[in-house]
Amino acid sequence: MERIFVSYIDRGMIIAIDGPLASGKGTLARALAAHFSLPHLDTGSLYRAVAHNMMREGYKFNNTAAAADIARHLNINGIIDADLRTAEVGAGASVVAAMPEVRKALFDFQRKFAANPKGAVLDGRDIGTVICPDADFKFFITARPEIRAERRLKELHAAGDNITLEELTKQIEERDYRDANRADAPLKPTETSIILDTSDMGIDEVIQKAVGIIDGTNK
Ligand code: DC
Repeated sequence: MERIFVSYIDRGMIIAIDGPLASGKGTLARALAAHFSLPHLDTGSLYRAVAHNMMREGYKFNNTAAAADIARHLNINGIIDADLRTAEVGAGASVVAAMPEVRKALFDFQRKFAANPKGAVLDGRDIGTVICPDADFKFFITARPEIRAERRLKELHAAGDNITLEELTKQIEERDYRDANRADAPLKPTETSIILDTSDMGIDEVIQKAVGIIDGTNK
């Protein structure tokens, strides 16, 4: 408790949120950022932007040299959020995210964002383990794979992607495996992470629970 109290005096509150695809971590991150008036970084969008640039420039996703170069000079001009949310870009992001050169190139930007004196909310896969190991709160958000596939299917169908539930479940299993088993910064909770399984919870319930945990610890 004392460490948390001291850290509030030294700098703003840092909230790290990690979890697999469609676990609800992005929604929770945005809600906590709004609730506590903190800047928010969706770090997955950086990896997605690398993959999107590779597609735009005609590279295969497994081209490590090109991916590292793109990550070092990341150009987000002209990319809108919808461009980054497609299943193809997501799959590419998972491939480039396994490359240590790409992770290294994106590290400083994320660290600087977290060092904002106001504090920050970051969501991703390695925020609690690598980017912000000293975060005041580390949440690990998860949900059963079939629930995550159904959630993501709704989003993709709404965006005009006709992928089937079967195909999407297969893609999610592949991505989960790649994200959790890569050598560099695999997805995993830390010893102090607060693990929330959102399978049977509505998003409002998840938000209330996380706010309650933060407020409760803060009193
Ligand atoms: O959260 P997302 O689906 O937008 O992330 C896209 C990919 O980027 C995901 O497969 C894993 C990777 N990623 C990562 O390795 N580390 C992060 N901090 C964020 C995302």
